[in-house]
Amino acid sequence: MRILRCDSLDDWAEHLAHLLISRLQVTPSLRLCLPTGVTPVPVYDRISDAVRAGRVSFRQSEVFLLDEFGGVAPDDPGRCDRMLSRFLLDRIDLPPDGFHRFTLDGDIDGECRAFERLIGSGCDLTLLGIGTNGHVGMNEPGSSADSLTRRVDLAPETTAATARYFDHDRLPTWGVTQGIGTIRRSGEVWLLAAGAGKAAIVDRIVNGPVTVDVPATLLRNHPSALLVVDRDASAV
Ligand code: PGA
Repeated sequence: MRILRCDSLDDWAEHLAHLLISRLQVTPSLRLCLPTGVTPVPVYDRISDAVRAGRVSFRQSEVFLLDEFGGVAPDDPGRCDRMLSRFLLDRIDLPPDGFHRFTLDGDIDGECRAFERLIGSGCDLTLLGIGTNGHVGMNEPGSSADSLTRRVDLAPETTAATARYFDHDRLPTWGVTQGIGTIRRSGEVWLLAAGAGKAAIVDRIVNGPVTVDVPATLLRNHPSALLVVDRDASAV
């Protein structure tokens, strides 16, 4: 796994946006897996600006949502698809049928299998945030390296951490997520971490053993994994 350390949050977001824009310029039909959460928002802001300025386009690309909360109303602003729309998709030129998300309104296991088939041999590029317990997507500790898109229970600390996405206290206890195996099929995997709150888990990902107890470590031996951290997240 390569590690890119940036001096500031601004620098970190600039670097990531620049890298992603370069990939899209080289491969306009890029198949991307994108996360939600707080971490990627400054990157999405810069990407949106670049699209508006005509420097890059998503017209030919596809976006696969990384994960989704279960038991949440379809129009809840805290849903992952709603967050990604608000922070990125509503501001870029991706055609509506280029966005692959989860509806979770019927046979959930069947929907996960169909999503896995749609991803097929893998995305070209997967961006990931990291939970303080080392989860990626909703692959909580204990997730295996070959896990696929599936329904999962959230760790109690993950449910508690979702409070920052919702404007009510009916927090999700389960969700669906691309698996570690799904993510490992991606041509490139970029792990994003910013802020002092992520420093301890970044240290475990970089220096600790590869273990299912810290799911992000299962990506360390991916042939094209890149960890991008700002100064505060690499301060341990
Ligand atoms: P965050 O979430 O980007 O909101 O910190 C990351 C995660 O829990 O996967």
